Amino acid sequence: MFTMLKRLAALLIGATVTALAKAAAPDDAAIDALIGQMTTAEKAGQLTLVAAVYEHEPSDRERARGEPTAMQRQLDEIRRGRIGAVFNGIGAAWARQLQRAAVEQSRTKIPVLISVDAIHGFRTIFPVPLAEAASFDPALAERVARATAVEATAAGVAWNLAPNVDIARDARWGRGVEGAGEDVHLAQVMAAARVRGYQKNGHLGDADAMLATPKHFAGYGAAEGGLDYNVAELSERTLHQVYLPPFKAAFDAGAGAVMAGFHEIGGIPSMIHHRLLTGLLRDQWRWDGIVVSDYAADHELIEHGVARDDRDAARRAFMAGVDVSMTSRLYQQYLPDLVASGEVPMARLDQAVRRVLRTKRNLGLFDAPYARMDVARERAQTRTASTRALAREAAQRAIVMLRNQNGLLPLAPTTSTRIALIGPMAGGPADLNGPWTVFDDRHDAVSVETGLREAMTDPTRLSVTRGSDIEVPIAGGIEAAVAAAQQADVVVLAIGESESMSGEAQSRTDIVVPAAQQALAEAVKATGKPIVVLLRTGRALALSGAVRDADAILVTWFLGAETGHAIADLLFGKVAPSGRLPVSFPQAAGQVPYYYAHKNTGRPPPPGPMREYTARYRDLTAAPLYPFGHGLGYARVDYGATQIDGSDQLAWDGELSVSARLHNTGTRPVDEVVQLYLHDRIASVTRPVRELRDFQRVTLAPGEQRTVSFRLRRDALTFVGEALRTIAEPGEFDVWIAPSATGGTPTRFTLLGP
Ligand code: BGC
Repeated sequence: MFTMLKRLAALLIGATVTALAKAAAPDDAAIDALIGQMTTAEKAGQLTLVAAVYEHEPSDRERARGEPTAMQRQLDEIRRGRIGAVFNGIGAAWARQLQRAAVEQSRTKIPVLISVDAIHGFRTIFPVPLAEAASFDPALAERVARATAVEATAAGVAWNLAPNVDIARDARWGRGVEGAGEDVHLAQVMAAARVRGYQKNGHLGDADAMLATPKHFAGYGAAEGGLDYNVAELSERTLHQVYLPPFKAAFDAGAGAVMAGFHEIGGIPSMIHHRLLTGLLRDQWRWDGIVVSDYAADHELIEHGVARDDRDAARRAFMAGVDVSMTSRLYQQYLPDLVASGEVPMARLDQAVRRVLRTKRNLGLFDAPYARMDVARERAQTRTASTRALAREAAQRAIVMLRNQNGLLPLAPTTSTRIALIGPMAGGPADLNGPWTVFDDRHDAVSVETGLREAMTDPTRLSVTRGSDIEVPIAGGIEAAVAAAQQADVVVLAIGESESMSGEAQSRTDIVVPAAQQALAEAVKATGKPIVVLLRTGRALALSGAVRDADAILVTWFLGAETGHAIADLLFGKVAPSGRLPVSFPQAAGQVPYYYAHKNTGRPPPPGPMREYTARYRDLTAAPLYPFGHGLGYARVDYGATQIDGSDQLAWDGELSVSARLHNTGTRPVDEVVQLYLHDRIASVTRPVRELRDFQRVTLAPGEQRTVSFRLRRDALTFVGEALRTIAEPGEFDVWIAPSATGGTPTRFTLLGP
């Protein structure tokens, strides 16, 4: 009797599941009905994200024992409903095998979700996110994210583990390269743009859209000492004022997933931070996407010292609000038992599964599970001419010109100028793409040497000398470099960090140009030849000596596939530099964490009222070497004083117009990033000396004068008040329209009470 009942139940389940598989996008009720038919093991499977494996020749052992290969085992796990998502695997043909196992051979027929880390491009590599932020161009970031999604989705991907929206104010931290830098406003607009691009601005169900995952929630960038994975000692106010807004911006733009981090925030690991993961995300923000763990971060709760064992770790992370577990398989292993024992309520399990299934539905996976696994589309839409053109444009706009003494740049490609290209970053395929390029082909990227050669009318006038390795001198290198410099009219010194010097677990104690390259720069400088430094880096560096004093400096970050072309475009003036620093460049490593939006303190350094006993180091002024927002073009732009148009009183619900007159004093067009900063003069809590609240890119023709205006409303004046709520307070504000965080002439206005 019992067996008969069971068989009948199985038939019924089979019928329900088949019906669901046939249905177009299941509605919420159909999803709930499906959940009602799933076993706890199948539910735990939907909450399990594992690393991809590929088909390979069976090992000797597998062959001898007739065992299945790793790929066969993975397919079998999908068939048995034990895996709901797979990451960092690609290829339409590969993905179709997984999807077939899920939707044709598993009992529940639930599609599998394929995810990747496409941090700055998929096959076509774009500039690293920090470089892209230097463009101060969210529309560009959105186009890049869109192009990334088109390539990735053609290869089966439906879920991107990006963007990284961590604010990074300590240049020692290696992962600053993955985000948008130090500023809250810039990070917000870039986060939103990237989410829109990945998710096709609300058309997530389209076959070329993929789910976005802002990460790492929250405060990961505040790692003490800039040491990756370290404790973030954050006040609630700073967490809410600085680190959370980019996440909120990403959610407001529609982000459907978020990733918890490896770190702890003041004693509570991110992975069990119930107040953030559930209190803030769900109860306060009413956000209903998926919370995914970082790589085995649930298991790491044991090392953190907050879980006895894996079972305990799974329970704590899951109950705090982490819906999906990455790679550890702890949910697969322990959730069924935790539910059976009553330690995890079935309702919580169903809630997490519901989120995953709704997400799969929203992605269109139930309707058309193979839509993103189209071999022909993959062939047609990978590394196309238009994505390469976009990579070149993005790289051009990411470059920041810090200095250009005596108008050394642009160089003339047609004259008889002899160029000595010197340095470990001069040629070869290495270190062009930067960290976090899981799917690149480094030979696809154009080196500086190639870019220059292609642009020069007489490439024989280019000599290329390595001079030094990245971190160690090479025998005779300096002598060869000096000889090359002596033969040339101008030296282009291509130096900086290797791509392995930034990124995950790549924190540095000393944020300088490696000593071997500094020595190379000093020797070349001694020749007296004019020097253009091309600075490749994933972070702000403290520049010194011959590098700091070079005639021209271009920060080129890691620019990706079109590195050499974009650099040549700028060097020879085909395009003018227009990037701006998304991070302050300090004078010395000992100043970090260093950021422009700091507090005044009770004893601000000169030009404050006191001369001594002020908040300054005895051996340095407090000023940056180059401020946030700084960047030059090929013509000087003068800024008139900031003006209030009309009354200088802003009504509580009113609007104020602020403007400044800009003048392109040069003979070339300029792409100017006009920045609006505010300072709240007296508030109930201390406020930064300046904060970026808006910016505009404007193009000024040679000699053009133009008034640039911004509209200000109360929402630009809000802050996290004493009670940790966002408020505005009537009172006086300084406002600057400026070319950087230290420029401009301010004016003052008053916000009137309600
Ligand atoms: C990183 C994540 C990434 C994951 C999967 C982790 O080490 O912290 O940002 O998404 O690996 O590649």
